[in-house]
Amino acid sequence: MSEPTVYLDGLYLPQGEARVPVLDRGFIFGDGVYEVLPVYAGEPFRLAQHLERLERSLRLTAMANPHGREGWERVIREVVRRNGGGDQSVYLQVTRGAARRDHAFPDDTPPTALVMSSPLTPPSAEDLARGAEVISRPDPRWLHCDIKTTSLLPNVLLRQEALEADADEVILVRDGVVTEAATANLFLVRDGRLLTPQQGPHLLPGITRDLVLELAADQGIPAGEAALDRTDLAAADEIWLTSSTREVRPVTRLDGRPVGTGEAGPLWRRLHTAYQACKDRIRAGEAH
Ligand code: PDD
Repeated sequence: MSEPTVYLDGLYLPQGEARVPVLDRGFIFGDGVYEVLPVYAGEPFRLAQHLERLERSLRLTAMANPHGREGWERVIREVVRRNGGGDQSVYLQVTRGAARRDHAFPDDTPPTALVMSSPLTPPSAEDLARGAEVISRPDPRWLHCDIKTTSLLPNVLLRQEALEADADEVILVRDGVVTEAATANLFLVRDGRLLTPQQGPHLLPGITRDLVLELAADQGIPAGEAALDRTDLAAADEIWLTSSTREVRPVTRLDGRPVGTGEAGPLWRRLHTAYQACKDRIRAGEAH
């Protein structure tokens, strides 16, 4: 396959030729924010919501936005088109730009903007049937986990810890309260009710999380936010992880013990079916 095209600061380039200066604050400080969004049949999924969250991350970090919504949409569609359309995962990143190394914000430095994409393969039927194996750990992150920052060292270390424990993901617990996973939001099912940790500074406002809450409402499944702890995890009939690239994933083992029956549960199946129907509508050009 030919090399993918990326967008960097106004130019479309083969990925291997795209370069940022060594003084870019994204490289030096992790001083950047990002988004990841799925594209189905060439059509960005929940684009407005992703761009709104990007604007929020930029605002909360006092970073300039290099494009308006239409500008971002144009660039995203162009990258997707140049990379062959179909199903893709689009990554976009903004950093505070390149300047002399100083923690303080630089004056008059334009932000760096990057958009790239890669083929998106949904989780296989076998993977979904097997479900994810997860471990739980104390949440080592900062107090602004609602900002989608590129400073991801704790998440990187957690993911590696999961892999070394033969697990897929890590569920995070802060001061006894369950927040989210290292790369996904979290839901649990108890007595036919769908529950997810309360939105706040300790977790990312996930676009898939919002969609799952919408789909649950459509399906007449009672759902809402709740303060959840380890006891709730241990007593859950089902646990799910949600993210833009992994969709809605059932968790079948937690800390070496089965979750519920140890198999993907009936409510997950309903939500998964509703989610796939939503993707089909995007593919048919009926929704965004
Ligand atoms: N991560 N929480 C964290 C810490 C995440 O990194 C992600 C997604 C989510 C789910 O958010 P959304 O539904 O908007 O994708 C929650 C992306 C996919 C990533 O970093 O690659």
